[in-house]
Amino acid sequence: MCSFMADIKILIEAKDYFNSRNIINISVLDIGCGRGLYWKDVYSRIKISKIIGVDIKSDEDLRIDWQDQSFIQTFKEIKDDVNFEFVQSDIVKFVSETTSKFDLIVCFQILSLLEKKSAKLLLSDLKSILCKSGLIALCIPNEQFEIRTVEGVPYFVMNKFNLSSEEFRDFVEEYKIIFHFEKNKYHWALLSCT
Ligand SMILES: C[S@@+](CC[C@H](N)C(=O)[O-])C[C@H]1O[C@@H](n2cnc3c(N)ncnc32)[C@H](O)[C@@H]1O
Repeated sequence: MCSFMADIKILIEAKDYFNSRNIINISVLDIGCGRGLYWKDVYSRIKISKIIGVDIKSDEDLRIDWQDQSFIQTFKEIKDDVNFEFVQSDIVKFVSETTSKFDLIVCFQILSLLEKKSAKLLLSDLKSILCKSGLIALCIPNEQFEIRTVEGVPYFVMNKFNLSSEEFRDFVEEYKIIFHFEKNKYHWALLSCT
């Protein structure tokens, strides 16, 4: 168990938030899910009714990128009776077309891959698919993050912006910050509309 890891820590914070409000069996949307490896550590600790992972890449392409570990593979390795779905789609398209609402929307290292203006618009659009008392779990680069080209590591090359603490607050201004910390050159935050 690696509860010191920031992605796991923020999801455990989300779990505590839902528990304290007696919200159980939460529905989850993980946008830009990649292989979603963090779910291996937290899935059994959060009562989830359904989880949907959305990525622009196919599960097969994710598997090739991540040495045999794709989103579907991650969930196959979780022993529980998991109700999950993987959707290959652009997140902007998915968010504009879905008729579902979610208790928890996970956006880890995805919004900064878009232009800042589009990312802000998308963040705003997430409101329309967030349940009442729902949360957005966000991870976005902070000012210590060096945006540069690292040969052979497209992961870092793709980031289009980073945010100082002040810019971060402006970026999420329409949400209430429930929890925020900085680790590994990222802002980690839980955001709520209520
Ligand atoms: C840096 S990885 C983060 C993966 C995962 N969220 C994590 O934290 O481990 C970004 C992921 O977003 C996906 N992605 C990039 N642009 C996207 C878009 N417009 N729509 C959906 N997924 C996208 C990429 O294919 C990649 O899997």
